[in-house]
Amino acid sequence: MTTSTTTTSDGEFSQAELAAQFLLSQVKIQPQIALILGSGLGSFADELSDAVRIPYTNIPFFPRSTAIGHAGQMVIGYAGEVPVAAMQGRVHLYEGYSAQQVAFPVRVFGRLGIRAAVITNAAGGINSEYKQGALVLINDHINLQGQNPLVGRNDDRFGLRFPDMTQAYSKRLREIARRAAQKLDMNLAEGVYAGLLGPSYETPAEIRHLRTIGADLVGMSTIPEVIAASQMGISVLAISCVTNMAAGLLDKPLSHVEVLETTERVRGEFVALLRAVIAEIASDVTGPTTLPNPQEHRN
Ligand code: HPA
Repeated sequence: MTTSTTTTSDGEFSQAELAAQFLLSQVKIQPQIALILGSGLGSFADELSDAVRIPYTNIPFFPRSTAIGHAGQMVIGYAGEVPVAAMQGRVHLYEGYSAQQVAFPVRVFGRLGIRAAVITNAAGGINSEYKQGALVLINDHINLQGQNPLVGRNDDRFGLRFPDMTQAYSKRLREIARRAAQKLDMNLAEGVYAGLLGPSYETPAEIRHLRTIGADLVGMSTIPEVIAASQMGISVLAISCVTNMAAGLLDKPLSHVEVLETTERVRGEFVALLRAVIAEIASDVTGPTTLPNPQEHRN
């Protein structure tokens, strides 16, 4: 790790502000929607028009991604008519970053005045109704990562000490996504995402446990980002790509190669869904370009 977000919240706030000002100095547009594109899902950002690509290494205090399949750059441009900021790749807790560092990009989005974020990931399918390659809307999560980006002294400028999580995955944005999928004649299931630390995949016994406690999907990302977004009042739409059936469901080992192969296979469908969803969200989200009262502008 070559960058560090300090553990004091005052540092975090001013660092996020500096990173946001830096990004705005690089572009002529004010992004309205943020995207975090997970493993193998970054190609959407290649399609943006008038795009400016900014490597994470150039953004002050930004963590650098080390995972294969993560390009590690911010792409700011237009998706159709909509100005967006898309992260091609993210960092994970299993890379050794703290939850605060993992959530730092979301803090920056908040300081950019962004009110809605589309967060994507590759996940294992626990629900046996899912098929490999399915796209699934996350409607809730179970945090089993043992970490939380809000640990430490709270900075009220980000939001509440104890933020509500009942609407962490915006119902309204999920409705919008379902409508967009319907128009595209695309199947879009819904489910609960269990987030684990990784980087080892789960054991079959862990997957049976996760199924019992109500999880439909399992992955190693997303949760710190969603918690930070929730605290800042940023509406979240989260979509998993079921890159593999979870451990023990099929009689074969799991591999990252399979994960990347599946994302490559569904790439066209995924990009089409994101394009449609962003157009619909943009016409739905109106809001101030400065931080609102926490939790007031969601859903
Ligand atoms: N488990 C955890 N994370 C994952 C998986 C999985 O099966 N597939 C893709 N990311």
